[in-house]
Amino acid sequence: MRDVIIACDFSSKEQTLTFLDRFTGRKPFVKIGMELFYAEGPAIVREIKARGHKIFLDLKLHDIPNTVRKAMSVLSRLDVDMTNVHAAGTIDMMRAALEGLTRPDGTRPLLIAVTQLTSTSQERMQNELLIGATINDTIAKYAQNAKEAGLDGVVCSPLEAKLVKEDCGSEFKTITPGIRFADAAADDQVRITTPARACEIGSDFIVVGRPITAAADPVEAYERCCREFIGE
Ligand code: C5P
Repeated sequence: MRDVIIACDFSSKEQTLTFLDRFTGRKPFVKIGMELFYAEGPAIVREIKARGHKIFLDLKLHDIPNTVRKAMSVLSRLDVDMTNVHAAGTIDMMRAALEGLTRPDGTRPLLIAVTQLTSTSQERMQNELLIGATINDTIAKYAQNAKEAGLDGVVCSPLEAKLVKEDCGSEFKTITPGIRFADAAADDQVRITTPARACEIGSDFIVVGRPITAAADPVEAYERCCREFIGE
């Protein structure tokens, strides 16, 4: 089931709730990142959940497996719908994350791995991190590792979603930021595409920030995303 996730990149509860108050019809799926979570703590997650939104808690965990298992166990009690780890933490760490996230009744949020951040260039990967493979090869390998660990999918650029689907199967989910309307500015994003094209390439969820949050009419921009991406 495809969906549009709004990146609520705000620094305070007031700003976030004022923004969400505009959505009186369909309640959007909301991404809460580090800035808002560190500013407001778990209470902001509970508050937004209580208002009827699905939540992607984007904290990108990356630590030793035992620490990640215990942190995920705490997050599982927040009743979010999706959360994530860095695939670079290894298969063992991703398995530990999955264990920690699974509730006693066997249910759990979707668990997604970050492959390569879109801010990482191949040159930096090779010169600073001494990773000799190409970006696309590392993305494909990290996605395979995430699948082997039992995760549900990966965050990647929409232009990489096809590669991931070919490698890991159509059921393996792709969550793709870097979305812009055809008639809009790219901002600081480089590898971008439109909601309609992301749908054609095979994204399951698009993560959209400024094209909605900075729009003159955010509700209209969200509905345009839904029309282009989901067709409704
Ligand atoms: O405003 P914009 O649509 O560019 O926001 C995209 C959102 O997706 C931001 O919250 C950004 O941090 C996030 N993101 C990204 N690229 C990644 C991973 C996450 O743009 N590789």
